[in-house]
Formats: sequence, structure tokens, C-alpha cells
Amino acid sequence: MTTTPAPQNMHHKAPDSMRALGFLARPDPGSAAAALQWVEVPVPAPGKGEVRVRVVAAALNRDDVHAAEGTVFGGVPTAPRPTETQPGVLGIDFAGVVDAVGPGVRDLQAGQRVFGVAYMQRLGSLAPYCCTKASRTRPLPEGWSFAQGAATGLTGSVASMAIDATGDPRDKRCVVVGASGNIGGLIVRALAAAGAREVVGVCSGSNAARVKALGAVQVVDYGQGPWGRQLADQPPFDIVFDCVGGRDIEAEALAVLRPDGHLLTLCGPMRLLGGRRLSWLTITRTLVYIAWRMIFSRVRGPRYTLLSASEPDWSAVETLLLERDIRPSIDALHRFERDEVASALEAVVSNRRQGKQVVAVRPDEVEA
Ligand SMILES: NC(=O)c1ccc[n+]([C@@H]2O[C@H](COP(=O)([O-])OP(=O)(O)OC[C@H]3O[C@@H](n4cnc5c(N)ncnc54)[C@H](OP(=O)(O)O)[C@@H]3O)[C@@H](O)[C@H]2O)c1
Repeated sequence: MTTTPAPQNMHHKAPDSMRALGFLARPDPGSAAAALQWVEVPVPAPGKGEVRVRVVAAALNRDDVHAAEGTVFGGVPTAPRPTETQPGVLGIDFAGVVDAVGPGVRDLQAGQRVFGVAYMQRLGSLAPYCCTKASRTRPLPEGWSFAQGAATGLTGSVASMAIDATGDPRDKRCVVVGASGNIGGLIVRALAAAGAREVVGVCSGSNAARVKALGAVQVVDYGQGPWGRQLADQPPFDIVFDCVGGRDIEAEALAVLRPDGHLLTLCGPMRLLGGRRLSWLTITRTLVYIAWRMIFSRVRGPRYTLLSASEPDWSAVETLLLERDIRPSIDALHRFERDEVASALEAVVSNRRQGKQVVAVRPDEVEA
């Protein structure tokens, strides 16, 4: 018989099971919000190199929906499929207090305030307790609320890693496509704070004022025609950050970049990286295309990188966000209730809300 090693450094006794928001089966594309339900699951015990967090706040992402519906990158395997006997719990972002640490964890202790990403796990963060790798968890900065920590996890790590992957932004001229989105907006703010010479945001016209307020010197409305064409009379740019994806955006980016410039994409040729299931043939062709683009662009620029941010790089987050005290913009704090979280999820995928949607799992502690 195998036994799970007893978690060390236990802060208090957790219950055996918990009520969380998730699924008993994989929802069809477009139906995650409607299918969301309360599920009863065991409180997980931290394995080797893991911590268990008593979740105070969780935040929602477009990727939560894609992961639940099995449409990340058209359907590449992510978390195991939920079943009646092994339900899945929604959620990537969390902030809370370390409750127990597993064997081999040295740099985190029970009682510490933390935030992090439970990336593509069966048991995610919309739950009273969440276990994840210690490496995906980081101490909450001094003076930050749990809500701010939860809202920073995925958005903050992806935005920082995207900038870090393109080198020092000082004196660079940059375009951010999807500048009104959560990740794009944070990239705009971080680039402006890091001393980029010029940041141009691409978004819909209704979000132009918001994107300027984040630090963009110029905003291009993609609804007024191809954004690359709208920038054609300007000197070529050093970096394009693409937070939207698609071959059309790639073509526009290549047209505005210097030959030694860099196209950093979060989604590659897939518009918003998910939302529909594709055949294995299409997924394979797309992956081959990306590999070819990444190799070929090193021989003949501009350079092309598809960011893979499944493991957070906390040192990039530290340098680009935390040292400058760049905090997330939170749009709404929701109750940990099925209907409220379901409608917030719908809003996240339909672009109806700008700024992070945070869920107060323990409402009395969330602003602390
Ligand atoms: N590669 C990775 O490791 C990784 C990790 C995390 C996330 N992602 C992906 O990154 C993407 C962005 O995530 P997010 O959380 O920031 O999403 P988000 O907050 O929903 O933002 C998406 C933005 O896309 C914009 N948009 C839609 N169509 C557009 C177009 N044709 N041209 C320009 N902008 C357009 C929308 O702007 P308007 O409302 O102004 O139209 C919206 O603000 C998602 O697809 C996500 O799956 C990738």
C-alpha cells in the first residue's frame, strides 16, 4: 500500500473535504459558465515540492475557460478530464495563506501570505484550499491585499515573461496588440514604467482612452482597418507584443517591424489561443508552423517567439512589476457564489469586462 507522506509544517487542521466550483464532466466549447456547479472534493494534501494554500481570493482568466473546455491551443492535453467520481475545480490564480508544505519545500512556510498560479490542474483555485508546486507560489509583497495578489498571478507572470523574453525595453519602440486586455494592458504599463521610448496600443476604439491612461502614447483602433497599415508611415518598430494571435496579426506585425526586431506572441496563429476544438491534424500543422517560424526567424528576422508561460518566472515579475509596485487593475470583487462566478466568467470570454474579475473565497480576509 502506498501512503501520501504527511504534510510538514501544518498550520492548522484542514477539513477532509470541501465545496468548490467546478465540473463533473468536461463542458463543451462555449458552455463552461453554464455548466459551472458546486462540487464536493477532498481537500488535497501537498505532495513532494508542493504547498497547500488556504485560498482567500481567486481571479478569473480567459484561460480558465479554455482549460475547462479542453480548447487550449485547439485541444492539446492540459488537466485530466473531470468525472463524476473525480470532479474538476476551476481556477488558476490564487492568493491566500500557506496551510501545509510537502516534503522538500524549503523556501515557504505555513502561515506565509502568498499568491500564485495553479496552472492547468484538475483541482484549481476556486476552492477553500488549493495545492500546487511551491515554484508556482510566491510570497505576497508587503502591503498588497489578497485580491491584488490573486489578480497578479497569471496576468502578471505572463506580462513580465513576455517583456523579459524580448530584452531590456529601454529606448525601444513597441506595439502592444490587445492592449486593452488584462495581459496586454499590464505589458503597456510595465513597458512605460521600464523606460520604453514609445508604446503604441492596438485595441478597439471604445478602449482607446483607457489604454492611453495605461501609458500608450498612441492608440490604433483595429476596427478602422488593418493596424499595420495605419502605422505604415511611421519608422519601423523594435518589438510587437501580440496578445491576440492570428496569421493576419502576424502579417501586420512583420510589416511594421525592423528586420532585427522581435515579434513576441502569446497566441501564435490561433486567435486568442482557444475557444474551439481543432483536429489533431490542424493542431500538428500549427505546431510545426510555429517551430518553423521560430527557427527560420533566427536565420532571417524579424525574430519570432511564441511564449510558453506554464511555469512562472518570479524573477521577471519581481523586476518588472513588484520592484515598481505595479499592481493589477481590479474591475470587480465577486462573491464565491455559483451564479455570480458564472456570469463573471461569461463576461471574461466575451470581452464585456476590462480589468481583473476577483472572487472573494474568504470575504472577511480578502482586502487585508
Ligand atoms: N502563451 C501563453 O503562455 C499564454 C498564457 C496566458 C494567456 N495566454 C493568452 O493570451 C491571450 C490574452 O489573455 P488576456 O487574459 O489578456 O485576455 P483578455 O483580457 O480577454 O484580453 C483579450 C483582448 O483581446 C482584444 N482583441 C480581441 N480581438 C482583437 C483584435 N482583432 N485586435 C486587437 N485586439 C483584439 C480585446 O480588446 P478589445 O476589447 O479592445 O477589442 C481584449 O481586450 C489569451 O488568448 C490567452 O489565452 C497565453
